[in-house]
Amino acid sequence: MSETTHAKYTRNQPYLSKVLTNQRLTGPESEKETIHVELELEEGMTYTPGDAVGIIPTNREEQVESVLKALGFSGTERVLDHYKVEISLHEALTTRLGIGKLARGSVNQYAKLCGETVPEGLKGLLGPENKALAEEYVWGREFLDLVTEFPGVVKQPQELFNVLQRLTPRMYSIASSQTAHPNEVHTTVRVIKYHAHNLDRQGVASGHLGERAPVGSTMPIFLHENHAFRLPEDTSAPVIMIGPGTGIAPFRAFLEERQATAQKGDNWLFFGEQRSVSDYLYKEQFLRMHADGLLTNLHTAFSRDQGKKVYVQDRMQENAAELYAWLERGAYFYVCGDASRMAKDVELALLDVIAKGSNGTLEHANEYLAAMKKAKRYQRDVY
Ligand SMILES: Cc1cc2nc3c(=O)[nH]c(=O)nc-3n(C[C@H](O)[C@H](O)[C@H](O)COP(=O)(O)OP(=O)(O)OC[C@H]3O[C@@H](n4cnc5c(N)ncnc54)[C@H](O)[C@@H]3O)c2cc1C
Ligand SMILES: NC(=O)c1ccc[n+]([C@@H]2O[C@H](COP(=O)([O-])OP(=O)(O)OC[C@H]3O[C@@H](n4cnc5c(N)ncnc54)[C@H](OP(=O)(O)O)[C@@H]3O)[C@@H](O)[C@H]2O)c1
Repeated sequence: MSETTHAKYTRNQPYLSKVLTNQRLTGPESEKETIHVELELEEGMTYTPGDAVGIIPTNREEQVESVLKALGFSGTERVLDHYKVEISLHEALTTRLGIGKLARGSVNQYAKLCGETVPEGLKGLLGPENKALAEEYVWGREFLDLVTEFPGVVKQPQELFNVLQRLTPRMYSIASSQTAHPNEVHTTVRVIKYHAHNLDRQGVASGHLGERAPVGSTMPIFLHENHAFRLPEDTSAPVIMIGPGTGIAPFRAFLEERQATAQKGDNWLFFGEQRSVSDYLYKEQFLRMHADGLLTNLHTAFSRDQGKKVYVQDRMQENAAELYAWLERGAYFYVCGDASRMAKDVELALLDVIAKGSNGTLEHANEYLAAMKKAKRYQRDVY
């Protein structure tokens, strides 16, 4: 497939896409709400598996109303946005300003508005010496919490542009192949919902997609190229894909692409989630691909199906000899999903697999992996 077309639509000039499908993938018993969203594309908008789609969210109306009430404004006040365009304060709080998760910088800017009379509680969150306390304070809190706890600080609506960060787009790995679905882009989104400091909270973009993006509604989007995450140019090269949780998304795209274009290379997928009964994302599709022979190997790790946690890297270890044989055959190795722990642990497991397979040292395994990286045979898309 051709590379993504020259971006006609960007984060500043997004395409207003129609929501074609919005389905929950996880079962009712699941601890997570992970959804599959299909969005319509205009003729000529193209992407390549490995790319991402940018979603431009809006803040929830209830949240905007709560902030207005706490600030003592009506919402009809006029303000200038980041481009000096005059809009209502209500519009600014809905589409321009990040009133969700609180940033430490916002706490500092808020305190500056107090001048000489910074409340004691707020003082204790300022300066480099109180960084840890401030980090603890902002965790699980939103702008509303700050205004409620320290009221009467914002005198002019325009001041909010100095306090709050911009409401930014969120990226989602593309979960579809355009060869299989012309004029559509699919995503796999975990809807972030949590309870903190006595309130139910949700992620801005994933909450928008999860609760306020029914079929037929519109969503501003743009396509985002990622040249660092691509199927091998040699269509007969084997690929190994490690995609726990929403990390599965680009591998659905890879597999659909390889299927739709009849690529000959072998495919091996490792998927992990909490429970097989409720969290096996795209189960039927992957089982069918396995039965059809597109997926040579399919390994799952359901961490909470048994007493002891089992992760994708355990499955890699259990299949170490075959995995190493694939690498020796020139396989490409891909990882997508959680950057904080999973990607590091998978890399350690991979080094171990290489060391065992080659009867070599860890030093040799590191060299082997470095050579794979250089040949673009080790690619990661982690967040
Ligand atoms: C290249 C790339 C690809 C990505 N692909 C995907 C994908 O395919 N699918 C996907 O779902 N996501 C993906 N993401 C993540 C996605 O972009 C968003 O970051 C994610 O959906 C959260 O955005 P949000 O607006 O819903 O949440 P936000 O409003 O940004 O809120 C998230 C924040 O809430 C806070 N928070 C979350 N949970 C808790 C808690 N329990 N307690 C207290 N605070 C908490 C944390 O500060 C967290 O950073 C990707 C990210 C990148 C960079
Ligand atoms: N920036 C954000 O706001 C944001 C938003 C959404 C997602 N994310 C990232 O995307 C990741 C994907 O989220 P997700 O809920 O779809 O899946 P996930 O949290 O990655 O969970 C998927 C599976 O991976 C397991 N796992 C936990 N730790 C692991 C490790 N060290 N190595 C291998 N597997 C491990 C989990 O098991 P257990 O849970 O049973 O331990 C679960 O079975 C998140 O972890 C998060 O980092 C970030």
